[in-house]
Amino acid sequence: MTDSILETDGLTKEFRGFIAVNGVSLKVRRGSIHGLIGPNGAGKTTCFNLLTKFLQPTRGTIRYDGRDITGMKPAEVARLGLVRSFQISAVFPHLSVLENVRMALQRQRGGSFDFWRSDSLLRSFDDRAMALLEDVGLTSYARIAAGELPYGRKRALEIATTMAMDPAMMLLDEPTAGMTHEDVDRIVALVKRVSAGRTVLLVEHNLKVVSGLCDRITVLARGSVLAEGDYGEVSRNPDVVAAYLGTEAPPEGAMAHG
Ligand SMILES: Nc1ncnc2c1ncn2[C@@H]1O[C@H](COP(=O)(O)OP(=O)(O)OP(=O)(O)O)[C@@H](O)[C@H]1O
Ligand SMILES: [Mg+2]
Repeated sequence: MTDSILETDGLTKEFRGFIAVNGVSLKVRRGSIHGLIGPNGAGKTTCFNLLTKFLQPTRGTIRYDGRDITGMKPAEVARLGLVRSFQISAVFPHLSVLENVRMALQRQRGGSFDFWRSDSLLRSFDDRAMALLEDVGLTSYARIAAGELPYGRKRALEIATTMAMDPAMMLLDEPTAGMTHEDVDRIVALVKRVSAGRTVLLVEHNLKVVSGLCDRITVLARGSVLAEGDYGEVSRNPDVVAAYLGTEAPPEGAMAHG
């Protein structure tokens, strides 16, 4: 028996008759980095929204860490340690990088935003916040306003604020989207580092990132699971190559990188 931290069975989401996610049964092994890939519109983000309970499934069940979480609210699921990386909009641009992480730590402890807490209490989170910033390579940016960070560093901050919740399982939706090569390499190293002792489910279009990070990969296409396996297996799968290229005669090694 493999030790799955997350298991879905027949997960389905319909939007007014349109089936965005169709009978997805997914098993994510504890401690692994699991990739969820597929062409645009395949249903990857919808899956994430179902898993974190931002959307209620039309059908199917979700089990996390031995519990049925299908009927839970997003905050309950987050408290159980299943956390989706915050979107950039969740970063407060006028607060410093350090203050953003401190807020995230405080939110983790106190539940809701509380702007009335004393400065000294907030400062008690500083050591932990600085440690997190070091983890994501942002130490030298600590005093800079978050809004002034270069794009790639904003994603690193987003990961730091997610880490502040100390999630057992982290969901990352396209963490390298729109990044330069250099930033991509940094995020790959970062995801590797922060994945120690956690499980990561990663949606990613950059296949070089997927091959470098993921232990196992599920390929979605038009809402359904098309293939599953390690990178070598799914990248050689003709159905997968065809889904990516939208062609019947995929060239050899169409998904190969490096
Ligand atoms: N709230 C919604 N109402 C109606 N249709 C939706 C809704 N959310 C998503 N969809 C549709 O569901 C399908 C899957 O969308 P989703 O965003 O999950 O795809 P994705 O795999 O994340 O794509 P991308 O790689 O472009 O991010 C798309 O056709 C999308 O238009
Ligand atoms: Mg998406």
